Amino acid sequence: MLKKIDAMLAEVENLEAHSAEDIEALRIKYLSKKGSITALMADFRNVPADQKKNVGIKINELKNLALEKINSLKAQFNTSDSDSIDLDITRTAYPIQLGTRHPLTLIKNEIVDIFSRLGFSLAEGPEIEDDWHVFGAMNFAEDHPARDMQDTFFIQSHPDIILRTHTSSVQSRVMEHTQPPIRIICPGRVYRNEAISARAHCFFHQVEGLYVDENVSFTDLKQVLLLFAREMFGEGTQIRLRPSYFPFTEPSAEMDISCNICGGKGCAFCKHTGWVEILGCGMVDPAVLELNGIDSKKYKGYAFGMGVERIANLKYQVKDLRMFSENDLRFLKEFEAAN
Ligand code: PHE
Repeated sequence: MLKKIDAMLAEVENLEAHSAEDIEALRIKYLSKKGSITALMADFRNVPADQKKNVGIKINELKNLALEKINSLKAQFNTSDSDSIDLDITRTAYPIQLGTRHPLTLIKNEIVDIFSRLGFSLAEGPEIEDDWHVFGAMNFAEDHPARDMQDTFFIQSHPDIILRTHTSSVQSRVMEHTQPPIRIICPGRVYRNEAISARAHCFFHQVEGLYVDENVSFTDLKQVLLLFAREMFGEGTQIRLRPSYFPFTEPSAEMDISCNICGGKGCAFCKHTGWVEILGCGMVDPAVLELNGIDSKKYKGYAFGMGVERIANLKYQVKDLRMFSENDLRFLKEFEAAN
């Protein structure tokens, strides 16, 4: 056996190859499952115990030499010939990952879609606003405590310039240069100085609506909101309006829908009440119309505003608000099917 190994050592030492196929053939000849070195290793079992040590060392030597030789032939081959050997131009390309719409965009689009079918058109405005459009034109008095309702971010060097706390500023921007009828829907990002937690964030998204015309009534508002709730959350959805307060609407209300998670029976999400709040609304305060150059004797209006994250939570039951802004692909990919 030792003789045989020596002969093979000499053979392996002088191996030559002229192509990649040659090298592969050598590998198969010596090192594959049926290769001669593999066969030698299998025979090792039959070597008498006193020779095992010597033979073992030699076989290992042979195997390592063969590996080395074949690898060095490969390397030589790769460098001596061009790279094109490994280039397969017929191979299919790596798939390009397509992006998907963000869940908040999906919900926003759905809200805007429902209202545009009702005749509302889209209006947008700046996120960095002046105090007038966010508060002044919306009937917040200078020292009105209601300004504290919305924890405002101020630009330090310009106390008059703020990050908008609601998209009502867009209502004002439209009213100041448009005479009724006005029927707009204003989606956008808003900012409030709140500690970030699972339930609050320093920015979120709103969609507000405004309708100003002759003879607009609270009934119109209620009907439009009922229709919206049913389009968004399903036919059987109920709504209820509770009296509330906003400086820019009078009367004001907050609207609840029957909890779409438990169907109104009561669950942890609706705190066992069967109802969940989704938006604020009311009749536009005549003072707001006047402040924005609209004759409040001739025209009336209604307005409403909702948080997109809130609606998304109800639809998708996302427990932690922070998920919406962390861009974790595992989370975002869950909405692929909804795109
Ligand atoms: N602007 C209010 C808010 O941000 C929402 C709202 C809009 C309420 C219109 C009533 C009417 O909280």
